[in-house]
Amino acid sequence: MIRIEYSPKEGSFHLSNGRVSYLLALAGGHPLHVYFGRVLRAVREDMLSRRAGLTEETFTLHESPLDRLPQECPVFGCGDMREGMLQVRHADGTEALDLKYLRHTVLDGKPALPGLPSARGEGGRTLCLTLRDDESGLEADLYYTLWEDTDVLARSVTLRNTGKTRVTVEKLLSFCLDLEGHDARLLTLQGAWAREREWTERPLVMGDQGTGTVRGASSQQTSPFMALLFPGCTEEMGECLGFALCWSGSFLANVHVDQFGAARVMMGLQPFDFSWLLEPGASFTAPEAYLTWSGEGLGGMSRAFHSLIHRHITRGAFASAPRPILINNWEATYFNFDQQKLLSIAECARDCGIDLFVLDDGWFGHRDSDNSSLGDWTDDLRKLPGGLGALSDSVHALGMKFGLWVEPEMVSPDSALYRAHPDWCIHAGDRIRIEGRHQLVLDMTRPDVREYVFTSIRDALERGKVDYVKWDMNRNINMIGSALLPPERMREFPVRYILGLYRVLEKITSAFPKVLFESCAGGGGRFDLGMMCYMPQAWTSDDTDAWMRCRIQYSTSLVFPPSCMGAHVSAVPNHQTGCVSPLLTRAAVAMGGTYGYEMDPRTWTEEEKETVRALNRQVRAWQEVLFYGDFRRLVSPYGGEACAWMSVSPDRKRAAVTHVFKDGHVNRIPSLLRLTGLRPDADYRVNGLETVCGGDELMARGIPLREPSGNFGAQQFFLEAVE
Ligand code: DGJ
Repeated sequence: MIRIEYSPKEGSFHLSNGRVSYLLALAGGHPLHVYFGRVLRAVREDMLSRRAGLTEETFTLHESPLDRLPQECPVFGCGDMREGMLQVRHADGTEALDLKYLRHTVLDGKPALPGLPSARGEGGRTLCLTLRDDESGLEADLYYTLWEDTDVLARSVTLRNTGKTRVTVEKLLSFCLDLEGHDARLLTLQGAWAREREWTERPLVMGDQGTGTVRGASSQQTSPFMALLFPGCTEEMGECLGFALCWSGSFLANVHVDQFGAARVMMGLQPFDFSWLLEPGASFTAPEAYLTWSGEGLGGMSRAFHSLIHRHITRGAFASAPRPILINNWEATYFNFDQQKLLSIAECARDCGIDLFVLDDGWFGHRDSDNSSLGDWTDDLRKLPGGLGALSDSVHALGMKFGLWVEPEMVSPDSALYRAHPDWCIHAGDRIRIEGRHQLVLDMTRPDVREYVFTSIRDALERGKVDYVKWDMNRNINMIGSALLPPERMREFPVRYILGLYRVLEKITSAFPKVLFESCAGGGGRFDLGMMCYMPQAWTSDDTDAWMRCRIQYSTSLVFPPSCMGAHVSAVPNHQTGCVSPLLTRAAVAMGGTYGYEMDPRTWTEEEKETVRALNRQVRAWQEVLFYGDFRRLVSPYGGEACAWMSVSPDRKRAAVTHVFKDGHVNRIPSLLRLTGLRPDADYRVNGLETVCGGDELMARGIPLREPSGNFGAQQFFLEAVE
């Protein structure tokens, strides 16, 4: 049961879903933060003691106490000398704001955010707290949503200009959480192309720390996520707080530890290179953020995020359905293919039990390398004499589904589109147009560009009768400029770009409700909750090496479940790292994601084909558990030697466990892998073991591991409870 209780006497709000509580209280009209954590039965007067003695007058005195108080919507310089989550510039150039309680409402569900992806509100309740600055007429709606079935609090803010003059918003973050202390470790995900989302931990220190990006995409370099681990927090035990943002562009996630040792956590739109003009009557909404408190360590935090994603973020036909096992031709052929080659790959894959053939880059214009044709979504008849339609018919005739790669947000300087519309790309006046991977970025803030992107991609998908789309994006945005935006709105561009993209994604995914969409950005360069609202899976990284994928998928699982992580078995030596790992290891690691292949199946021996058939049967039999079960990290690859994880069905009767050793060993005592999340009172049948094992024994003592011979040896255990 969700409770949102307002106590007029205390001026306090208590939100709870029976497992977590969030408390805030008004003082002099200012909303102060009181508590976020394990559920509380009641709010006692002394919990609100930081407010004691604070009156309306206290806040109008020269020395306002706000600098020392934990707040819900802080503003710099009006008593509080820390950076706030909101900054505006009034028409006269000043920036003071005195936001005070105006009203509150409690809503069933959760209102959709205009133009923004956000979690669905079913089963939730929302507190909307409206603050007002009387002097300017600026109002802020602070939204707080809790769900019955998910231990996550959603927060967002809408600013409304009810005054008579225009206001410039220079910073609007999605939430502030002021904590009393800073005895915690900060966990963020930092990386690069082919090394996305590396687990990065450090102690909180005085001053600013956190993560963020200005690249125009959530990026390979970081991720819109951070967590605070309190002393004693491990995978299974202890307390932590997790934060994630539903946004695909530049963002800021910051923790400021102030002079008193209090930590201010904030997250939202990147304020660098941002401002937004708010005319009288206009409003602006910040992306939704998710806050979770876990008393079951980092594992509990991740399971809360996974539950949010499965129950409230992903949508459409594939959100909670089985997904096809695919084969993608990229690493098999790169640009060097023709219809015959593709069909022989598809046929061979079909014979090995693969469901979906995906045609990657190089099918359009005259794209024989990455230096041309983006934007010209016309079939290359040299490679595909009958066009996409004929290829798709032939693939369908094999009994397979057909998928297609597109990169709709881009244009190659060598393209008919660019020659016809040189002003459709992002550019700064007459300055040189800096290319990335020989391409420029289309200006998604323009309605005509969005219309072209939608219609050209829609036509290609219809022509190709596609069942699956890989929506790629291979460079970041720089030298920002748009031919249509007026100068005073140019700093709105990074946000308007993503809002424009979201409009197109909404339209195209709604137009093809039966199609499975996968997002991609040069690997995992836009692996975020915003994209996940439109496309239920994303290509995790261009690095398909099994050990590198252990690292990347392990840390990605902090927020995202396996059902979101595009993962393929690829050839050895691996095309990115040159490492050689066994086929079974590559498959075991790909089962930690959506499972597919990215290699030439015609190179497989008969024995390998048999193995692939058996693997595909195994994936189908266990997909429900692998994708949608409770995910548990067991051994961290960031320690260097091994990696292990498992998924458990909700009734805890089935579990799939994977363990990978990095190196071969000899003459060591065999190790035991301790499992978690099983039923202690149940007995499990385990593949490869002669006798059944007790759940208690598997969790307390562990499951014996074979000594690995050779590098990258994987072992998988499939557990079924004996009735
Ligand atoms: C980057 C993607 O991550 C790859 O999988 C592949 O689709 C290439 N782009 C194609 O250009």
